[in-house]
Amino acid sequence: MDVISTQMRSAIENGSWIRRMFEAGIQLKQQYGEDAVCDFSLGNPDLTPPPAVGVALRAFAEHVDEPFSLGYMPNAGFGWAREKLAAYLSSEHGVQLAANDVILTCGAAGALNIIFKAILEPGSEVLSVTPYFVEYGFYVANHGGVFRTVPTLPDTFALDIDAIDAAITPQTRAMIINSPHNPTGAVYTLSELEALTELLARASKKYGHPIYLIADEPYRFLTFDGATVPSLLPLYPYAIVASSFSKNLSLAGERLGYAVLSPLFEERAQLMAALTLANRILGFVNPPVIGQHIMAGALGSQVDVSIYARRRQMMADILKDAGFEFQMPRGAFYFFPKAPGGDDVAFVGKLAEERILAVPGSGFGGPGHFRLSFCVGDDVISRSAEGFKRVLGR
Ligand SMILES: Cc1ncc(COP(=O)(O)O)c(C=O)c1O
Repeated sequence: MDVISTQMRSAIENGSWIRRMFEAGIQLKQQYGEDAVCDFSLGNPDLTPPPAVGVALRAFAEHVDEPFSLGYMPNAGFGWAREKLAAYLSSEHGVQLAANDVILTCGAAGALNIIFKAILEPGSEVLSVTPYFVEYGFYVANHGGVFRTVPTLPDTFALDIDAIDAAITPQTRAMIINSPHNPTGAVYTLSELEALTELLARASKKYGHPIYLIADEPYRFLTFDGATVPSLLPLYPYAIVASSFSKNLSLAGERLGYAVLSPLFEERAQLMAALTLANRILGFVNPPVIGQHIMAGALGSQVDVSIYARRRQMMADILKDAGFEFQMPRGAFYFFPKAPGGDDVAFVGKLAEERILAVPGSGFGGPGHFRLSFCVGDDVISRSAEGFKRVLGR
């Protein structure tokens, strides 16, 4: 008997590699004990939130006995929270934003879903690059769209502007990019982004409709070696930034994110109305109350990024010593080394025999590589050194 939809059955069958590794990890930990397994499979920030988060949360708790303290609110979030966020993002992105240009959401994931709900027709195409954050395909399909990808340039994972140009069709409604990038650690440069927005502006004109450029930026705060993340909002009227406080405040479970529109977009009030209704009718209803109070107190603070920088160096030294080939991540908290022998699924299996958990690149549309997340303690990274050496020696 068909008790669930075909779409969900196939989604479950093709299931995310990350989930599978998670389950394999639990099994290994039960078998050998927590301390014997080096788990690099999940991007769940382990750093403590900055002190401003606790301060804001305790201050909120003082007022929780008041009526409506935890009640419904406008679908786009509290007016005061949107104003505060708009002022903060104006300086971060170098544009003048009003409260109406931002909407609060249930994480960046919620932001992406309301964006696709607001802009896609059945069969509309959304373009991205490989490798990509695996949830994009699901989110596009949620709203009747078709997810298409083009490869990035070999080794550097930079945008291949000609390949993107060739992949645009009359059905292309949006392109989604992610910088700093999960899983490759790539950070796109201003000249890459200028070339991309020029191309999308030309294509929008040619096809007579906006081709939105969605910038998924939850790792904007986390770059290394002086890399910067140029803003798309002053570059392109159809740019939409989706982001969250999951990573910079270690707040992933509280689900607070946002979408922000470019002030260069004249018809943005229409799009904002659609995003707001989408927040409601997708069942989010409104963004989390407590998250907004935390955000108001903690805007501008972040976790101690020097810890991520230190772990990145430790991990790089271990991988280099063991003989892996990899691109040093310029941002975010992942390495995406080449899988020796080329078969990433088989290689991740070998790593698991060394009690090292990673995710095969195939799960991100990037076969031949594997992803290691460095939001784990320094001790886990140090402990993995011998296993990485042994797996290459075998
Ligand atoms: C590239 C990327 N986009 C979006 C998200 C979703 O983040 P959020 O917790 O804000 O929904 C993640 C989470 O890992 C991510 O890595």
